[in-house]
Amino acid sequence: MNRDDFNMLKQDIIYLDNGATTLKPKILSETVSEYYNNYSANAHRGDYDISLKVDTMYERSRHLVKEFINANEAKEIIFTSGATDSLNIVINGYFKYYLKENDEVLITKSEHASNVLPWFEISDKIGIQVKYIPLNEEYKVTLDNVKKSITDKTKVISLAHITNVVGDIRPIKEIIEYAHKNNILVVVDGAQSVPHTKIDVQDLDIDFLGFSAHKMCGPTGVGVLYGKEKLLEQLHPTVVGGGMNASFSSETDRVYSELPNRLEAGTPNIAGVIGFGSIIEYLNNIGMQKIHDYEVKLREYLIYGLKQIPNVIIYNDSSESGIVTINYKDVFAQDLAIYLNKYNICVRAGNHCAKILKEELGIKNTCRISLYFYNNEKDIDALLQALSNPKLIEEII
Ligand code: ALA
Repeated sequence: MNRDDFNMLKQDIIYLDNGATTLKPKILSETVSEYYNNYSANAHRGDYDISLKVDTMYERSRHLVKEFINANEAKEIIFTSGATDSLNIVINGYFKYYLKENDEVLITKSEHASNVLPWFEISDKIGIQVKYIPLNEEYKVTLDNVKKSITDKTKVISLAHITNVVGDIRPIKEIIEYAHKNNILVVVDGAQSVPHTKIDVQDLDIDFLGFSAHKMCGPTGVGVLYGKEKLLEQLHPTVVGGGMNASFSSETDRVYSELPNRLEAGTPNIAGVIGFGSIIEYLNNIGMQKIHDYEVKLREYLIYGLKQIPNVIIYNDSSESGIVTINYKDVFAQDLAIYLNKYNICVRAGNHCAKILKEELGIKNTCRISLYFYNNEKDIDALLQALSNPKLIEEII
């Protein structure tokens, strides 16, 4: 759907790497260009008309994001450079202070590096224990396994809502409900879920959520950190400087600004944030439920087709998102991706930044097909045709 909005789809490419980043509709470059060409002043600093226009547009984006994820207050939306930045801010600015030696954080082996490495880093600094919730035979997290992993030292659970290789949708609401009953906070990596499904942070009762604009048709270099107000109030700024302080003196005493400015030091990615606002409106006009339902159908079509090709190994047959992870028997994943590229088909090969998943999957490298709403059955047919080529291995050698 909406293919005409994307210039890149006029090229002869079949783009199936939406888990890495998505294509951008024309409205994004138009909005960004409008800012750079017609009112490119700084935000939150000027007293003149175009500066006020920047503030209005920047804060409008914050409001749009607030509505999009149903946050309680616009000040619970912090603009960051991406999901990685958001998770690093939470872990270094909140949990590094909140957690004590030997406290436990629960993650899984299918998390993206951004939800693993920052925990390892603070583990080195403050001596917390990083523990793994076991995955079931389909590489999924069950509430039962979460319950079994919790001890009286567990203080935080940090999980992707949808994982970037297995593509499973975690039962995040049930996990959060159970965690909260046990005074455990929950951090959600929404990088692969917010772009594809309706998220209501109040209904899910999420404590912290991070996601990226570029995986949902938006610009690179923009992300969001959502946190409940009472938690964000206690988050120590990990970057300090201009735009986030109310006053400071030569005696080193200082007063930092209120939320959200306190957590947005320096000149932000103004063009990107304003562009992201136009993307939120764009996605709203399509409808997140419609996007989700469409992707589920397209996934079924893809899975059905892949199953007809004897040499294709599917690792996440039963997952529910638009992420399908495969290999071709006796072919190295990257060779397969390079082969598909000959047919202008873009997929991602490798470990996809989920480098400890191999301990569960038993294999290090896979090819990932990841869908978005502008993909169609013709894209899938082209992929299936390339994979059905009886000379596939010969063409690779
Ligand atoms: N996190 C992105 C991916 O999964 C880059 O491909």
